[in-house]
Amino acid sequence: MMNIDIITVLPALLESPFAHSIMQRAQTKGLVNIRVHNLRDYSKDKHKNVDDYQYGGGAGMVMSIEPFANCIEHLQKEITYDEIIYLTPDGETLKQQTANELSLKGNLLLLCGHYKGIDQRIRELYVTKEISIGDYVLSGGELAAAVLVDSIVRIIPGVLSDESSALSDSFQDDLLSPPVYTRPADFRGHKVPDILLSGNTPEVEKWRFEQALAHTKARRPDLLS
Ligand code: ADE
Repeated sequence: MMNIDIITVLPALLESPFAHSIMQRAQTKGLVNIRVHNLRDYSKDKHKNVDDYQYGGGAGMVMSIEPFANCIEHLQKEITYDEIIYLTPDGETLKQQTANELSLKGNLLLLCGHYKGIDQRIRELYVTKEISIGDYVLSGGELAAAVLVDSIVRIIPGVLSDESSALSDSFQDDLLSPPVYTRPADFRGHKVPDILLSGNTPEVEKWRFEQALAHTKARRPDLLS
């Protein structure tokens, strides 16, 4: 079973994303254990502070090293992590390939930052991988952590009931997905392509591949090069 631990100052933000649908099923099936830890519980400060003014001056608070160190070292007493991941806009951009690789690991620890960032020494001493979910800035790492965990958990073997469905996702073969249809076959004159009603599986597969290729050429030619 895979263990994913997340350290955050806003545990409430991470309650819902893992409590429904595929994320919930993965946990009830015992395929992954997701735990959210409140960083504030590891502050030894009497006001439970987790941040401080930055050295050198300037606007914006920086998250202190001690609460992170206390929490990480507490968790490491029971678990050895394969990766300790810091979610940050200056990390490597999350790709399907990264999710694939991480879904094969045993134990992951995710650190969510806030304010101006976290003390550089946390990154140097503990973090093994830094991931960004895209070139934009969020107000904290929590939503990025939720995105990362979702992308990993849904492809853990046994999580999806239809195994082939994760492999046919957009990006799994560097192609975007072809269009899909369900009933009715005719909606106000807008018809489902005939080939999909033909029952000719090889022809359907061929059509889907051609559609995927054309769609990728039109929208994401960079994926084909
Ligand atoms: N924290 C703030 N913005 C982020 C981003 N784009 N990716 C990951 N973590 C972040």
